Amino acid sequence: MTKLRIGVLVSGTGSNLQALIDASRGGRLDADIAVVISNKAGVRALERAREADIPSVVVSHKEFKSRERFEVALIKALRDHDVRCVVLAGFMRLLTGYFLDAFSGRVINIHPSLLPAFPGVDAQRQAFEHGVKIAGCTVHFVDRGTDTGPIIAQRALQVRDDDTAETLRARILELEHQLLPEALQLLAEDRLRVEGRRVLIADEGRRAVDHAALDKAERGA
Ligand code: GRF
Repeated sequence: MTKLRIGVLVSGTGSNLQALIDASRGGRLDADIAVVISNKAGVRALERAREADIPSVVVSHKEFKSRERFEVALIKALRDHDVRCVVLAGFMRLLTGYFLDAFSGRVINIHPSLLPAFPGVDAQRQAFEHGVKIAGCTVHFVDRGTDTGPIIAQRALQVRDDDTAETLRARILELEHQLLPEALQLLAEDRLRVEGRRVLIADEGRRAVDHAALDKAERGA
């Protein structure tokens, strides 16, 4: 079976990208990282791609007159690498419906809060300043809103009295590195089914879409 080909969009450090590279090389993620695309040149994430011999491309939003033209270039770079699923791993640009339609139902984001609490930027600080006792991260499908799409997986931790916004950020990041490859593995195994707002996960070894049964039904058997 051909492996799921993913394209990872980044803007900065790329520690989540690294978690995906390590999981894929370590046999915990049955997917190939086909390309890494950054909207900023010179970021650590691009170095990580180079170190892992993964093709990388810079598509700078600053070089395009409109959001749509920027997205046309992103889509082209992804298609050139035969990408089937797009992962936003610290990608700091909002994508429009135009981009989402090109990869319909196959764009995934990692967000450092327990959504729907604290969407948007600096979520860990928002959570810390709000005084929450439980914090964490979310992997979700991307829809047209900001961090509003159907939730695939979440992981939580308890906020400690001696946490600061910075220690909380670091502790959540560790959870992100576990959760993102795990959630993508579910997609790679074709075990996710979206029903309205809910993402249902088929048991291990069973695909959410039973392709054999569908084929049989189509043949009228
Ligand atoms: C992560 O906290 C991610 O959830 C958020 O941006 C950060 C990116 O970190 N969207 P990195 O670039 O993967 O190290």
